[in-house]
Amino acid sequence: MIHIAKPQIGDEEKQAVLEVLDSGMIAQGPRVKAFEEAFAALCGVKHAIATTSGTTALHVALLAHGIGESDQVVTSPFTFIASANAVLYTGAHPVFIDIDQTTYNIDPALIEAAITPHTKAILPVHLFGLSCDMDPIMKIARKHNLAVIEDACQSHGATYRGKRVGSFGTGTFSFYPTKNMTSAEGGMITTNDDFISEKCRVIRQHGMRRRYYHDELGFNFRMTDVHAAIGLEQLKKLEGRNQQRGANAEFLSKHLRGVTAPHVPAGCEHVYHQYTVRVPAGKRDALRAYLQENGVGAEVYYPLPVHKQAVYIEEFGYKITLPVAEQAALEVLSLPVHPALSQSDLETIVSKVNEFMAG
Ligand SMILES: Cc1ncc(COP(=O)(O)O)c(C=O)c1O
Repeated sequence: MIHIAKPQIGDEEKQAVLEVLDSGMIAQGPRVKAFEEAFAALCGVKHAIATTSGTTALHVALLAHGIGESDQVVTSPFTFIASANAVLYTGAHPVFIDIDQTTYNIDPALIEAAITPHTKAILPVHLFGLSCDMDPIMKIARKHNLAVIEDACQSHGATYRGKRVGSFGTGTFSFYPTKNMTSAEGGMITTNDDFISEKCRVIRQHGMRRRYYHDELGFNFRMTDVHAAIGLEQLKKLEGRNQQRGANAEFLSKHLRGVTAPHVPAGCEHVYHQYTVRVPAGKRDALRAYLQENGVGAEVYYPLPVHKQAVYIEEFGYKITLPVAEQAALEVLSLPVHPALSQSDLETIVSKVNEFMAG
């Protein structure tokens, strides 16, 4: 089976974990600090704050910006549910706007119409490894005095006009094993803002500035040194692996027939967390089944946009229609693109897709 994702853990990661286990310092310690510094350097920002997951990174980042009860956050409905759930955890409400049909990212032209007196932030999701169109998003945020919290959980190392994602506003990343780099579980917040950085550190650690004195409500969202040790080694391999993903994507785009390859707008460097094609209406599920039967693990990210999820309709009363996102959910299919694929795997993926689409 050619799997849709394959975490690559080498001897370096194993050795680094053993060193931590032998060190006696296995909770948050020097490896977390080193991982934060190295990740900040990757993104070209002043601060990085490690957390337990991408979800907790989003949650902490939103809280650090003071987002809470009765606030609104403008975001994408076409994403993993954590992007929007993190907004709900704070007591605020996600306001979903439709996406661009070629990039699957929020359409900046729709943001201003969604802004109300309650809007506090824009939460663009850099989906599948591709940056959102950040210039208009930052312009609107400045005009309306809104925070920008980037969900870069799928886009480690991606750039927009030469700048890394996670360096425009407050960035959030996930290190779940299927991501371009992993720490088993883990997350990271990135920022140039000293106040937000300090606030995130305090929220991550039970609202504690002085030992056992708690100024505000916080959580235990600390990363361990065991996870950071894996993350540090993975980070060293990220650029090479992203390049391999790019080369795999180029091969697929050159040879696939009958499906729409991912669109990469000028000025964007796509890191292909997913290689997502569009399949003409009605054929997608049959193609997916055919690929599964023939040993190619293709997946649908995402079959149901967030505003159509039962919990959003039944518990939170969402009753909206966003046609571009809903159509995308019916037509997208992600094919394996990860760096562990062999040339023969790539050729199999191409031949099986083309065989089905020609027939
Ligand atoms: C776009 C997006 N946001 C948030 C998350 C949440 O990250 P985690 O699974 O590390 O909590 C993910 C992870 O799948 C994601 O893909």
